[in-house]
Amino acid sequence: MKTEWDYTELARTYASRPDYAPSAIDALVARAGVKAGDRVCDIGAGSAHLTIPLLERGLIVDAVEPNDEMRKLGMSRSQRFGQVQWFEGAGEATGRPGDTYALVTFGSSFNVTDRPRALKETARLLRPRGWFACLWNHRDLDDPLQTGVEDLIRSMVPEYGYGTRREDQTEAIAASGLFDPALPFEGRVVHRVDRETWIEAWRSHATLARQAASRTSEIVDAIAAYVRAKSGTEMPVPYVTRGWLARRRF
Ligand SMILES: C[S@@+](CC[C@H](N)C(=O)[O-])C[C@H]1O[C@@H](n2cnc3c(N)ncnc32)[C@H](O)[C@@H]1O
Repeated sequence: MKTEWDYTELARTYASRPDYAPSAIDALVARAGVKAGDRVCDIGAGSAHLTIPLLERGLIVDAVEPNDEMRKLGMSRSQRFGQVQWFEGAGEATGRPGDTYALVTFGSSFNVTDRPRALKETARLLRPRGWFACLWNHRDLDDPLQTGVEDLIRSMVPEYGYGTRREDQTEAIAASGLFDPALPFEGRVVHRVDRETWIEAWRSHATLARQAASRTSEIVDAIAAYVRAKSGTEMPVPYVTRGWLARRRF
């Protein structure tokens, strides 16, 4: 299925992207009051980075993903779980049944949808008083090494920004009129990563690829030279998993 954000080329290295902070997933599950056996629809499920922790907590997951390559990757990464099914669909039109799910999630995917339409579709999917959640992994840009990487990117793409994926989602959720006021949640995690794998993951960074276009590989090469000079082969990379939960109003 074609979408405005095409992840076909990014799928190859997407598996090596960092996991969300387990404490943030625990907060999400606890706040939404979902428990083993409840049904979740995970939208833009892609590489299954959110699907898998939901499955590990005993939830039954319908994973919806428009992109064939990402869906294949997610299916293979999650195939050891019995309680997941994968479907082709988008956030604005999932093709899944209404009034069904206790929780509908968007792991780093709410920003690539038409948010008002995705919220309307979410409200349709949810059971009465069910929960919507969206979350992202943000690199902690106050970390000195990460500050250096950001400065480097901006020196080559001056107008570089993270757009919707780093914005507060409270207003967008409120504007739909379909949910109670949004509740923020977050958790921190430091990933100890193989430096070369981390560099490679920049090649699947949609936000960079979209803004740097043909300069992407030149920029990734510059990031590589910088971190090789500053860090050993194992790199600590601090992340904040940041999300918003909101309960269907009716
Ligand atoms: C950044 S990846 C996130 C993958 C995974 N959920 C995670 O947490 O890592 C964004 C995913 O959203 C998918 N996507 C693109 N447009 C979409 C849309 N309109 N609705 C739902 N998903 C979409 C992409 O194909 C991609 O797999």
